[in-house]
Amino acid sequence: MEENTIVKKRMLSGIQPSGDLHLGNYLGAIKNWADRVNDYECFYFMADLHTITVRQEPAELRKRTVNQLAQYIACGLDPEKNTLFLQSHVPAHSQLGWVLNCYTQFGELSRMTQFKDKSSKHKDNINAGLFTYPVLMAADILLYQPDFVPVGEDQKQHVEICRDIAQRFNSIYGDVFKIPEPMIAENGARIYGLNTPGDKMSKSIPEGCVFLMDRPEDIARKFKRAVTDSDTENCVRYDKVEKPGVANLMDIYRTVTGNSIEEIEREFDGKGYGVFKPAVAEAVIEHLRPIREEAERLMKDKAYLDSVYKDGAERASYVANKTLRKVYKKVGFYQL
Ligand code: TYM
Repeated sequence: MEENTIVKKRMLSGIQPSGDLHLGNYLGAIKNWADRVNDYECFYFMADLHTITVRQEPAELRKRTVNQLAQYIACGLDPEKNTLFLQSHVPAHSQLGWVLNCYTQFGELSRMTQFKDKSSKHKDNINAGLFTYPVLMAADILLYQPDFVPVGEDQKQHVEICRDIAQRFNSIYGDVFKIPEPMIAENGARIYGLNTPGDKMSKSIPEGCVFLMDRPEDIARKFKRAVTDSDTENCVRYDKVEKPGVANLMDIYRTVTGNSIEEIEREFDGKGYGVFKPAVAEAVIEHLRPIREEAERLMKDKAYLDSVYKDGAERASYVANKTLRKVYKKVGFYQL
């Protein structure tokens, strides 16, 4: 087949700019996106509409959103090869979200673990948006007809409900939506907090969370304080049940170095945590250094970032509006 006739499979994913990007976002999602930029047609966005399900400080949200774009690019998402955009710049997300709300059951949304989690954490603000969040996420995905949705493990349930909604809609109206597959990385799909090996790494526990823009000395400090295990074995061995903290550090190390677990066990055989923890810190620092430096440079180049998200919004809207028009027609809205 001629090269220019090969149709690439499509991928789409997004991250909420509700906090600064961290190592969990990077290893669970962005690194996998960047590793595949040449093999897929890719759409990546800042999920800003989703962030207001929890109160945000407006100026901070604006700043974080555009900084996140700079960090996407610095992580290797070339805007020439990928469509990078802000969710709120493409109104079709909200428009399809409304339609899909009417094809989603109250009962199935009630079972979402993220809703249960967040509503217990924000008891004073259990808003309807928090409840219907997975429907907007389904719209985000289905508008672009992707084959794959690369996410960390915690988002798998949301991709599954998206598939259910799409199948339900298709069963009524014919083949409107492609049914997407979640793409969960083999390594890094669930990174735990450095000081909370039982909970996933998240911005809400900053001391155990390594941010992409952290300075090397802060990364070194966080790894130094990382929880290993309570026994006195002091041995670098992969055991998720008995030694979750050590296993987490090994997962981080293997994802940034590409070494296998066996190779890591051999490398640190007889060396103990006093050698292992600084080695993981060093590998992460060196891996993130060029990303941080490039992001810092890009964050100052407002004109360039403006041009990227404008171009991205245009390209994304073209694809999204095509799907939205089809949906509107199918459900019976009178065409303009
Ligand atoms: P969000 O913003 O919470 O997280 C973004 C991505 O990072 C992954 N992730 C992790 N992976 C491994 N270990 C961790 N500790 C960790 N923490 C976060 C998440 O799995 C995710 O891939 N609802 C989504 C955003 C979204 C979206 C979409 C994603 C909105 N619309 C459409 C895909 C497609 C969310 O809140 O992810």
